[in-house]
Amino acid sequence: MADELFSEVDEYVVAALHGDDAVLESALAASRKAGLPEIQVSPTQGKLLHLIARAIAARRILELGTLGGYSAIWLGRALPEEGRMITLEVSSAHAEVAAANLDRAGLSSRVEIRLGDALDSLAALAKEGAEPFDLVFIDADKPPAADYLAATLPLCHPGSLIVIDNVVRRGEVLDPASQDPNVIGVRRLFEALAHESRLEATALQTVGLKGHDGFVLALVA
Ligand code: SAH
Ligand code: DHB
Ligand code: MG
Repeated sequence: MADELFSEVDEYVVAALHGDDAVLESALAASRKAGLPEIQVSPTQGKLLHLIARAIAARRILELGTLGGYSAIWLGRALPEEGRMITLEVSSAHAEVAAANLDRAGLSSRVEIRLGDALDSLAALAKEGAEPFDLVFIDADKPPAADYLAATLPLCHPGSLIVIDNVVRRGEVLDPASQDPNVIGVRRLFEALAHESRLEATALQTVGLKGHDGFVLALVA
């Protein structure tokens, strides 16, 4: 089955190129123990985010959807000493697990978890005149994805990169008649991207431990 092959290749890549990582392993173990859903990015996706952040020398990173902090650890580690990351999470249970995981990763001084609905937190960031973010990773709930994009744009600067997870959903994105709120949300997102003149975007399909999905990459003009 294709999914098994995808997983085996991911495992090969991780064994060949990632090395052991006790901090990430313990973060996953703590998240599992706390009963969090195992929907974090895969190791190769996490490292891709990390490499992107370093390649663009991101000093300020914004994340929507913290879960147990797995992607936040990958991204937070890409920051220079004086860099800062803010990650938004609606579930206090998830945020609590993430706070402990980020602390164990030595990142609590660089990564701030903000509890609440992402749209409220984004509005608060705009209101407090937050310094613009270099990199945004949108990975919260999917139905309001287009609203997240709209609320994120004022927090960006020309050259900011926006990465959005779960935009392919095993090809379900192709179905214009889908009743799945996640698919409807992602299709609205593509429409918003197409009509937003400040953004130049594409989507990259991914296969691996999380099956067939994909990321949007959007550059702010
Ligand atoms: N980025 C994480 C995975 C995030 S899973 C990783 O890869 O490690 C999606 C997260 O978004 C969940 O923790 C969920 O509680 C959170 N979420 C769902 N709706 C939200 C909302 N309206 N505002 C903020 N976070 C939300
Ligand atoms: C699922 C996967 C994700 O990456 C996510 O952000 C939310 C849900 C899932 O597989 O259900
Ligand atoms: Mg995701």
